[in-house]
Amino acid sequence: MENRENISIDNLSTEERLILPSQATSAIAVVKTKQQRDELYRQSLENPQEFWADMASKHLDWFEKWDTVEEYDFDSDRPYVKYFSGGKLNASYNCLDRHLTGSRRNKAALIWQGESSDETRTFTYQQLHREVSRTANMLKNIGVSKGDRVVLYMPMIPELVFSVLACARIGAIHCVVFSGLSAESLSDRIVNSDAHIIITANYGYRSGKFLECKSICDKAMELSPQIRTCVVVERVERETYMVRGRDLWWHDLMVDAALTCEPEPMDAEDPLFILYTSGSTAKPKGILHTTGGYLLHAMMTVKYVFDIKDEDVYWCTADIGWITGHTYLIYGPLANGGTTLMFEGVPTYPQPDRYWEIVEKFGVNIFYTAPTAIRAMMKDGDHWPNNRDLSTLRILGSVGEPITSKAWMWYYNVIGQGRCPIADTWWQTETGGIMIAPLPGAIDMKPGSVTLPFFGIVPKILRNNGSEAGINEGGNLVLTRPWPGMMRGIYGNPSGFKDTYFPHHGYYLTGDGAYQDEDGYFWMLGRVDDVIKVSAHRIGAAEVENALASHDKVVEAAVVGYPHPVKGEGIYAYVTLEEGVDATESLKKELIVHVREKIGPIATPDVIHFTPALPKTRSGKILRRILRKIATWDIDGWNVEDLGDVSTLADSSVVDSLLATRS
Ligand code: WT7
Repeated sequence: MENRENISIDNLSTEERLILPSQATSAIAVVKTKQQRDELYRQSLENPQEFWADMASKHLDWFEKWDTVEEYDFDSDRPYVKYFSGGKLNASYNCLDRHLTGSRRNKAALIWQGESSDETRTFTYQQLHREVSRTANMLKNIGVSKGDRVVLYMPMIPELVFSVLACARIGAIHCVVFSGLSAESLSDRIVNSDAHIIITANYGYRSGKFLECKSICDKAMELSPQIRTCVVVERVERETYMVRGRDLWWHDLMVDAALTCEPEPMDAEDPLFILYTSGSTAKPKGILHTTGGYLLHAMMTVKYVFDIKDEDVYWCTADIGWITGHTYLIYGPLANGGTTLMFEGVPTYPQPDRYWEIVEKFGVNIFYTAPTAIRAMMKDGDHWPNNRDLSTLRILGSVGEPITSKAWMWYYNVIGQGRCPIADTWWQTETGGIMIAPLPGAIDMKPGSVTLPFFGIVPKILRNNGSEAGINEGGNLVLTRPWPGMMRGIYGNPSGFKDTYFPHHGYYLTGDGAYQDEDGYFWMLGRVDDVIKVSAHRIGAAEVENALASHDKVVEAAVVGYPHPVKGEGIYAYVTLEEGVDATESLKKELIVHVREKIGPIATPDVIHFTPALPKTRSGKILRRILRKIATWDIDGWNVEDLGDVSTLADSSVVDSLLATRS
C-alpha cells in the first residue's frame, strides 16, 4: 500500500499488559456480561438484516417503515452503502418530540455553561423543542428549504444546538465549521457545500479573549459572495459591522418565528449533514452522513458504551465543530432522552481545574474527553482534581488519538478514583460513531487498548501486501463490512469515496495502524498516512505545506508530525526559502502567522526548520521517512545510520544539510 511505512509495536511494559476487571457500573446496565456482548455481537454478524431492523424499531421512532434494511457493495468500482431505505423519520423529532409525552418533558435536555462561571442556561425538553421549532421557522422565513445547505460558524452557545436541530427538523443539511478556522478555510467550505445561508455570532469568548466570528465571516463572504443571508447571534454586546440586506440579527428574525413547526418526514437515506475533515489531499473533504443509520448508530453507542440513564448528567467536552460534538454532544444523548452538558470554554481557563469545577457543580456522571486534555491536566498536578468532588462520575471516555497507558492510569486513578471504567473509543468522522470500545461493566479493560468492536463492526489488520497480520503484529486497520453510521460519500466528489476509502476492493481503509493481541483486543498505533493528530485535531500535512508554499518567500515545504508530550503530535515544517532570502527567527514568526491566517490556529507549526533542499527521490517524491526521523532527533537520540537506506535519494548530500540546519 502506498505511503505505508513499517509499523512496529512498541515494547510493551507490564503496565500496558495489565488487565483491569470490568466493574459493574450500574445494576441496570444494558449489557452486563462479556457473554451477553458476545451473543449480541454474534447476532449482528450472523443476521445483520434482522439485527439492525430490530434495533431500528426499538431505538428510533419512524413515521413510515423502511423497504430494505441493509444494502451495500464494497467490491465494485462504485462502492455504496444504504440502511433503511424508504423508511421515513426525522432526527429532531427523535431527539425532542418523542420525549415530550412522558416524564421527560420537564427534565433538563441541555445544560449550558458559559465561559464565565455565572453564566448558565438550562433548557428542558419542552423548552429545547420550542427553541428548535422557532429556529426552524426562522430558517424557513429566510428562504431555507429541504435539501439546502446551511453553514454554521458559531462558538459553543445554545443557538448552535438550536440551529443544528432546526436544520434537521426542516430537512436542511447542516454544515458546521469549527469557529477556530480561518476565513479562507470557512470560504472553501461555503463554496464546496454551495451554501447560501450562514449563521454566526458577532463574537465568541475564548480564554478571556474575543473570538472574532463575524469579522472572519465577513472576510469569508468576500471570498465567496454566494452567501445571501448571514444570521448573527448577539453573543457579546459590542459594536458589530452589519451589511444592510445581507446580515440580519438572530433576535430580530426570531420575533416573527412561530412557536411550532412540523418535523419534515425524511427518508432514512436523505442527507443529515456534511462535515469537513482533513486527509492526504490539500483540500478537506466534505463527509456526508444520512439520517436513519447515523442516528441509530449515535443513539445505540451512547446507550451501550456510555450506559446513559435518565438521571445522568452526561458531558462530552468536544466542540460541535467536530464529529464528536455532533454525535456525542447533540444527536446521541438527545436521541436517548438524556441530559447533555455543553461548555463554552476551555479546560485550563481561568484555572487548570475548570473541568472538575463543572463536574462538581452539575454532578456529572458520564464524562467524555480527549487524551490531549487529560495529559494537559495531568501536567498541572493532582491537587486540582483532588480538591474537587468527583464522586458523581460513573463512566469516563476517551477519544481522538491514542492514549498512553500512563495517561490512562492517571485518568483511571486520579479522576475516576479507581471506581469508573474507562471507555477508550476508536472511530472517525467518516464512521459517524464509535467503532471499537469496551462496553463498560461487561468488558475487561487493558490500559491503552480500545478493546473490542461494537455490534456489526468487523475490523481486520492487514499487512502492506494485503495479507492478514498475525497476533500482535502491527498493520493497516480495515473494516470489512458496513455499519449504519458509515459515511455515504464525499460531498461534490462522487469518485472520492472509492479513491480514498476503497483503493482496494472489499474493505474500507481507515488510515490507522493497529494490532490485535491474543485476546482479540485492538491497540491503536496512530495514522499511517499524512494526517497529523494535533491535540486530537486532524490536520493534513498537505494543507500546511500548501499554506507555507503560498508565502512569497517560500519555494517549497514538507510537513511531518512528531511526538509531543501534551499535543500527542506536533507539526514540524521543513521550509526551503527563495534564493537570497535570509533564514531569520522573524521570518519563522511571519510564516507561523501566515499558516494561522490561511488555516487557523490549530494548524500552527511547532517547529520551522529552514533547509536548502528537501530529500527527494529521482522521480521527485519527498522521502518523509527521513524527515520524520530528523524531526525526532532530540527525542529518540538516534544515529545517522538509523535513517536507513538513503540510496534512493537523488542527492544524498541533502541529509547532511538537513542535519546541519537543525536548531
Ligand atoms: C482519527 C479520526 C473519533 C472522533 C474524533 C476524531 C484517531 C480517534 C482514537 C482512539 C487512537 C484514535 C485515529 C482516527 N483516533 N480515536 N481512541 N485511539 N486513535 O475524529 O478527527 O475524524 O479523527 O483519530 O487516527 O483515524 P477524526
